Amino acid sequence: MVSESASSAAARSSAAAQVLVASNRGPVSYTVGEDGELTAKRGGGGLVSGLSAIGDDADALWVCAALGDGDREAVRRGVGEPGVRMLDIDADVHADAYNGIANSVLWFVHHMLYQTPLEPVFGPEFRARWAAYERYNRAFAEALAAEAAPGAAVLVQDYHLTLVPGMLRELRDDVRIGHFSHTPWAPVDYFRMLPDDVAEQVLRGMLGADRLGFLTGRWADAFTECCVRVVGGTSGTRIGVHGLGADADFLRERSRRDDVEERMRTLRGQAGTQDGEDRKLIVRVDRTELSKNIVRGLHAYRELLDTHPEWRERVVHVAFAYPSRQDLAVYREYTAEVSRVAESINSAYGTPGWTPVLLHVDDDFARSLAAYRMADVALVNPIRDGMNLVAKEVPVVSDEGCALVLSREAGAHEELGEDALTVNPYDVSATAEALHTGLSMPAEERAERTKRLAAAATALPPAQWFLDQLHALTG
Ligand code: F6P
Repeated sequence: MVSESASSAAARSSAAAQVLVASNRGPVSYTVGEDGELTAKRGGGGLVSGLSAIGDDADALWVCAALGDGDREAVRRGVGEPGVRMLDIDADVHADAYNGIANSVLWFVHHMLYQTPLEPVFGPEFRARWAAYERYNRAFAEALAAEAAPGAAVLVQDYHLTLVPGMLRELRDDVRIGHFSHTPWAPVDYFRMLPDDVAEQVLRGMLGADRLGFLTGRWADAFTECCVRVVGGTSGTRIGVHGLGADADFLRERSRRDDVEERMRTLRGQAGTQDGEDRKLIVRVDRTELSKNIVRGLHAYRELLDTHPEWRERVVHVAFAYPSRQDLAVYREYTAEVSRVAESINSAYGTPGWTPVLLHVDDDFARSLAAYRMADVALVNPIRDGMNLVAKEVPVVSDEGCALVLSREAGAHEELGEDALTVNPYDVSATAEALHTGLSMPAEERAERTKRLAAAATALPPAQWFLDQLHALTG
């Protein structure tokens, strides 16, 4: 039920934005240099492409959180990009909401990451963080309510902002509210680990939207089942599936630039393939994220070298594992474990002319594209993943075709499964065998499969993905 003040808030609204996007991380971030100058760095991704597709004339606004000191300084100095409003939410509240709840609880639930004999523990500390999560969601809801033109479309993103649709509905009954989940959704028995009132609050918060979007039918079904079991149904909220695809035009153009060619030469030197040596590459590119399963991937590679010694000196595992969420101890420990396992493989198997694992931990997009182009096998073995765009990007830019070893728990598997080598992400031995199959695949078959994978991967480009959601909400 919407209060009378919600209707009058709409009538009073003189705000201009017709299309609003809300997400924790925005399209731009700022750093403060030693001279006090602010430098802006722009990001990419589906939402950026989508918003640019609706054109500059559309009255669009992106509401996001200030994430670091540079962002906060930009807000205080009134510096900003047109069409972006950063919210300077109290840093402790943001940290408790983002690190303490979104990334340590909701992310863990949806990716099923808990070691359940000891965690999770929902006591007073959790409750304090949950209160911060509510405040952080409220700050977004209030900003959106203030900025939305009458009848505007508001597209709320992800597990950080599950309470926003319900809160915004209380403030503005005239706007159309969508919410999109970029993660998997937990199976109901796992979801119900959350305290009962919190589970209910999350679902009711999302059901405040007119329409909810998910990356695959599997995640949408899991959400619906949670609603049926926890709150008795989906209350008339519409649910849709939009499988975000790779941006073929951008990737094909970007991956042919000089900086990528230069990275390819360097990688050939490091892998020892520059003199036409018969040595293949297994490539993986991930954020160093617990759900990406990098450590089991390395164990599988070690097993490949044991069970198929003919690959020794004839294969290199190129693993790019970029830093992520380093405020959380468990992520720092995982990052250290990735390095430790990679080093142990190199010291056990390496020879003067062969380094079995090339691990790079610094983010370099051009180098990732170089590795995509050169890969003979791509390893994408997440424990659970909303979609996984690496699986979709590699076939698009691959020079000569690439076998894709793909976890059945990645959302991308729904679209790519037929031409991938499917693995259970926990089964290291089966993953080792799939790597062997990929490395042994005849060049012609690899190229044919890659063509079909690329077609499936680009079926729904980012701009269309966004517009489809917008039209489904407003149409
Ligand atoms: O998968 C969910 C998601 O929010 C993605 O949209 C994003 O790429 C990723 O997590 C990054 O998370 P963070 O903002 O914590 O670095």
